[in-house]
Amino acid sequence: MKALITAGGHGTRLRPITHTKNKHLIPIGNKPMLNYAIEYVQEAGISEIGIIINSGDQEIKGAFGDGTKMGLNITYIPQEAPLGLAHVVKISESFIGDENFIFYLGDNILVGGIRKFIEDFENNGSNCHLVLSKVKDPQRFGVPEIKKGQIVSIEEKPANPKSDYAITGIYLYDSSIFEAVNNIEPSARGELEISDAHQYLLDSGATVTFSEITGWWKDTGKVIDLLEANRLVLDNHSPINSGNIDENSTIVGRVSIGEGSHVENSNIRGPVIIGNNVEIQDTYIGPYSSISDGCKIIGSEVEYSIIMDKTIIKNVNVRIEASLLGHSVEIRRSRSIPETHRFMIGDQSRIELK
Ligand code: TTP
Repeated sequence: MKALITAGGHGTRLRPITHTKNKHLIPIGNKPMLNYAIEYVQEAGISEIGIIINSGDQEIKGAFGDGTKMGLNITYIPQEAPLGLAHVVKISESFIGDENFIFYLGDNILVGGIRKFIEDFENNGSNCHLVLSKVKDPQRFGVPEIKKGQIVSIEEKPANPKSDYAITGIYLYDSSIFEAVNNIEPSARGELEISDAHQYLLDSGATVTFSEITGWWKDTGKVIDLLEANRLVLDNHSPINSGNIDENSTIVGRVSIGEGSHVENSNIRGPVIIGNNVEIQDTYIGPYSSISDGCKIIGSEVEYSIIMDKTIIKNVNVRIEASLLGHSVEIRRSRSIPETHRFMIGDQSRIELK
């Protein structure tokens, strides 16, 4: 079995971060999001992985290389434009050949791995196996209609969903999916929709089976989803402390502190992950915060946030929470009179002041 993992797309909902960073490299628990998909695929015993990238993207290739360091064989498949998930499958036909494969959206984070879904697919001997999750807002997803335990139809983002299941970003196929993706037409938004390919399979009499995710699953399109995914990862992490903590600091709960990091006169309440060479002084770090390498947080309070590498937060007198800060961002309290706010902010940034 091979795996196809997406790392392309627009990432519009995560701008401005995605103006300069591929969304799949945003850290969750201080590890690029795409690592989770790759590690789950590897844990399921698959070593031949195709990663879909936007054409010209060097960032993902730079991060994972040809996979040999991880004992994998990674092939990059450039997509000329994000023309839809069925388009992704279509352009991967020569990489997949006639093997069965798992198609895994690289921005999906779940707990517990994917082995069970592969086993269910193999035991069912079906042409297509979908992984479903119960959600409160099925209108945002591909939604199956289920009758007598069988999927009978699938609609993409329906106004009136026929079930409260979302089709998650984990799909298992045999090669009949290629006939489907080669015969469907682009949707009104100009994309080859994977839901249309699934409906094509149903219409042509192929067997479409499913498993249900009962644990945690998140499709991390928006900041709030990334923060939730980060919370999930931190809740399940095993703390390692290689940093330096002075006697005036208090560390409570599950807190990891990386090499070369210093904590002085500060209060950290886990679960928290702090990377390498981070300086924390006169500061409170609250639960569900991930602070990447080389950050400096001084005289400030941070909670439930993802702070990327080399960012500086200094003497900010209001707690920063539910925030995603990019690489080398600076937020400092200004000493100037009169008291003012001064900004140098990139396109499509969002700021909420007290
Ligand atoms: P989406 O979340 O549907 O789209 P997006 O990542 O472009 O984000 P936004 O809606 O904010 O603009 O994509 C799901 C996954 O599939 C994600 O890993 C990106 C990837 N993708 C591709 O690789 N190629 C495509 O043509 C599309 C539509 C998505």
